[in-house]
Amino acid sequence: MQYHIKDESLAEKGRLRIEWAARSMPVLALIEERFKKERPLEGVRLAACLPVTTETAKLARVLKAGGAEVAICASNPLSTQDDVAASLVIHDGIPVFAIKGEDNKTYYKHINAVLDFSPAYTMDDGADLVSVLHSERKHDLKNVRGGTEETTTGVIRLRALADQGLLAYPIVAVNDALTKHLFDNRYGTGQSTVDGIIRATNRLMSGSVFVVAGYGWCGRGVAMRAQGMGARVVVTEVDPLRALEAVMDGFEVLPMNEAARVGDFFCTLTGDIKVIAKEHFEVMKDGAIVANSGHFNVEIDIDALEEMSQGKRAIRDSVEEYSLADGRKVYLLAQGRLVNLAAAEGHPSAVMDMSFANQALVTEFLARNDDGLENRVYTVPEHIDKEVARLKLAAMDIEIDTLTPEQQEYLTSWEMGT
Ligand code: ADE
Repeated sequence: MQYHIKDESLAEKGRLRIEWAARSMPVLALIEERFKKERPLEGVRLAACLPVTTETAKLARVLKAGGAEVAICASNPLSTQDDVAASLVIHDGIPVFAIKGEDNKTYYKHINAVLDFSPAYTMDDGADLVSVLHSERKHDLKNVRGGTEETTTGVIRLRALADQGLLAYPIVAVNDALTKHLFDNRYGTGQSTVDGIIRATNRLMSGSVFVVAGYGWCGRGVAMRAQGMGARVVVTEVDPLRALEAVMDGFEVLPMNEAARVGDFFCTLTGDIKVIAKEHFEVMKDGAIVANSGHFNVEIDIDALEEMSQGKRAIRDSVEEYSLADGRKVYLLAQGRLVNLAAAEGHPSAVMDMSFANQALVTEFLARNDDGLENRVYTVPEHIDKEVARLKLAAMDIEIDTLTPEQQEYLTSWEMGT
């Protein structure tokens, strides 16, 4: 078996951490039991490009239990947990190509390594597998029957590809399932981003000004949790509806060039480029802490920061101090990469349980139905989304009501008023 990981001797630590995470993933455990019996993915070759975390390890085991042959590479150079990568290789016999801190060249070498595995299905987080397949490796597209996409940024890229008529196989946007983005993007990103910023800096949030750029589901989560830590939260937005929602949720909304003057912490979650740019660094307070929790490291204009700086040094793990010409210091976390994965451990298992239950069930759906699908971006079938919610509630031992026949009838009629 081919693989490329940092250190095999980390495997035992990884095994224990995966066991810990799996305790909070009851929905995946139920799916795993069924997959073991039914083997719906028998012989399916699947290439996954995901953060290599304890939660991803659990998903990989579930897919393997269903009969799939899985190869994994990282979807971000800083998101790999090297002990997990080692455990997947040593204990599960799953080929992993991922090393935390890998450079760009190695990152793409690893993407190519999982594509060399001739997958019939791709499981992407950010659409880099799809992007490489549709550019340098078009000749491999003929083997691919379907795919899934985990994240907002990836879905945006896929829709762009589909709009240009270039998407060569059907892909299901797992991100768009309600049981994914309402929980993972909001509560998962909310908690893990604040966790990453605190682990990196150990600074007090209470009483600080925390600027959140972007009020999508991830931004909402971070704003809510930063407020919960006692910060005064300022939101920046380009979308009037979202800005209005942020105002009504009780946050101050400012353009970035004003927010830049007042923030102690900054976190970008927009999916776009240069959200924090030269003109913003120019007016930031001495000591401002800048982080990104959007998918790619393009939201903060790091090149501009480098150009403006007279020097930089690593002052703590995941913290780089940039010294500006006028003596001010700006602190960049995790090289502008996903701070929740690079400086903490990513989303907690309890939310990944739902996201990855969608991944597992959608992969099964594709394996059973891909013949009838067109080359476009699909949403997760509603019955899968509802099933994940139902299983999660059951695992949490929470019961809900059912409609009486009379209530059911009322909801399907129009005659009755007051
Ligand atoms: N994306 C964000 N958090 C994650 C996690 N814990 N595992 C896999 N992908 C993630």
